[in-house]
Amino acid sequence: MKHSKKKSKVIIILGPPGSGKGTQAKLLCQKFGLKYVGSGDTLRSRQKKSDFTGGKLTRVMNKGELAPSFIVVKILGDELEKIKKQPKIKGFVMDGWTRTNFEAILADEALEWYEWGRGAKVFLIRISNRESLNRLTKRRQCKKCGRLIPWVGEFKKIKRCDKCNGELITRVDDNIQSIKKRLEEYKKETVPAINYYKKQGRLIEINGEQPVANVFKDILKAIG
Ligand code: AP5
Repeated sequence: MKHSKKKSKVIIILGPPGSGKGTQAKLLCQKFGLKYVGSGDTLRSRQKKSDFTGGKLTRVMNKGELAPSFIVVKILGDELEKIKKQPKIKGFVMDGWTRTNFEAILADEALEWYEWGRGAKVFLIRISNRESLNRLTKRRQCKKCGRLIPWVGEFKKIKRCDKCNGELITRVDDNIQSIKKRLEEYKKETVPAINYYKKQGRLIEINGEQPVANVFKDILKAIG
């Protein structure tokens, strides 16, 4: 089944840990009625399966290392297959996929296979390592519903989840050691993926060190 190329939107969001990929992806989904496809969330769901890969993924990701590309690409393919079954879908936002050059090439192949073309907009949200560490060590997560609570404004005062009253904890990979490892992986593996898009003139760079609403405004401006 072919999706209308004119109306369809595929957006890829890249950036270092804590750059706001998830925050902006969700805003884009709300604004344009798109489906959210997050690599971190999808891999964390895969961890729950009690098999060899589920257990090993948990250990690898908790340390801040990347999941192996063959698993990431298989899972991405499964997600795109599911999307294909929803004929009315207008498009989707890919949050955090393509963290290696290899994944970027295969993701393009997968998008072509599923007839979304090569027109995906690729955003890079830039922040410094310092900002990344600052945001991630301070944010909290609801143990019950998984909601991430930023360390900003009124959110600093809340003691339990504002949506479901669940207990607030630190995400398991939001400790200094894992964050440093995630930043290292970003530099070593993801920067080449970013360069892959850059060389093709497909990369749109956004300053992530400004209020959420301003980051979003810049993204909307670039979407046109
Ligand atoms: P993932 O869950 O994607 O984690 P990450 O990339 O480390 O990024 P985060 O989710 O921590 O941050 P974010 O950029 O989404 O920012 P957020 O909006 O939450 O991946 C986890 C792990 O999965 C990886 O380490 C790896 O092991 C594995 N993995 C995933 N994809 C993979 C792949 N393709 N290949 C291999 N392995 C893969 O914002 C962060 C905080 O800042 C929040 O508190 C937020 O409220 C706040 N914030 C956001 N924007 C702003 C702003 N403008 N100003 C102030 N605060 C802000």
